[in-house]
Amino acid sequence: MPTEPVIEVHLPEDHAARSLAADVRRGLATSPKMLPPKWFYDANGSELFEEITRLPEYYPTRAEREILAARSGEIAAVTGAHTLVELGSGSSEKTRLLLNALRDNGTLRQIVALDVSESALREASAALHAEYPSAAVHGVVGDFTEHLGLLPGEPPRLVAFLGGTIGNLLPDERAKFLGSVRDVLEPGEWLLLGTDLVKDAGTLVRAYDDAAGVTAEFNRNVLRVLNRELSANFDLDAFAHVALWDPDNEWIEMRLRAVRPVRARIAGLDMEVEFAAGEELHTEISAKFRRERVDEELTAAGFALEHWWTDAEGRFGVSLSRAAG
Ligand SMILES: C[S@@+](CC[C@H](N)C(=O)[O-])C[C@H]1O[C@@H](n2cnc3c(N)ncnc32)[C@H](O)[C@@H]1O
Repeated sequence: MPTEPVIEVHLPEDHAARSLAADVRRGLATSPKMLPPKWFYDANGSELFEEITRLPEYYPTRAEREILAARSGEIAAVTGAHTLVELGSGSSEKTRLLLNALRDNGTLRQIVALDVSESALREASAALHAEYPSAAVHGVVGDFTEHLGLLPGEPPRLVAFLGGTIGNLLPDERAKFLGSVRDVLEPGEWLLLGTDLVKDAGTLVRAYDDAAGVTAEFNRNVLRVLNRELSANFDLDAFAHVALWDPDNEWIEMRLRAVRPVRARIAGLDMEVEFAAGEELHTEISAKFRRERVDEELTAAGFALEHWWTDAEGRFGVSLSRAAG
């Protein structure tokens, strides 16, 4: 057994500075102002997300765990995967259910975890290495919209994309992402996809606007990242957390609303930015799905959906699909 997990960093050292700078220049110059959600996830953001998964209002993690607890044995038997590749792996907490099933099935050889959050990835890789000594653990610090071509792993591979993270991508980004996952797989390899489902607006909004204010802290964390990485001086108290349900697009939107006129300096970009009172910065969408849409999008990307499971309350869906030939 290797004594340490292998960690590859596919993000250049100045990634935060350069790629964030490009996103900030572009995103704060448009109307409405917007930033991609990956910038929430520095070490603090990853910890806040873990806290969110334990909130009473945040049902997706519990619902997906219920499905994985019931179906992991079947998933291991059907796929016979030698490598589990997890994208946007975070703490890989629910993933243990899949890994245990693959280990018990006698097929698990390699674990590959990819996440943009280096701290979360290093911590999870070390824990997986200790818990699954007979498997080689390979951590990749990277962006799943850019670095899939570099994924290691012995076939047959099972790519897991859990937590409903796919809902953070816009429809055209999802099509591109699913196409790139299909491109790195051989025909017959597998994708396990977790998708949060459309349901009543109250339940959805509460999941993104919890009473304890943890999601609000998570949302504002993007300003903390800008302050640190780009020497900006955003006053976090000048922004209110907003979560709303868009019934036409069937997605939740998270925004930060300026509670008063705000002028901030982003010294690292030699840039000033102004918000009128009430003006909003769009920070995340979280699309909710119906089975038909998941099936359509997977088929369009070159996958065949073979299994579809939901939790008992029908809140969350997990699909297992196969890369078509
Ligand atoms: C909603 S959390 C889900 C975490 C975990 N998979 C779960 O189910 O609880 C999204 C995860 O994806 C990571 N992430 C977000 N955007 C990413 C990107 N573009 N590339 C790689 N990882 C990303 C975050 O750091 C975070 O760990």
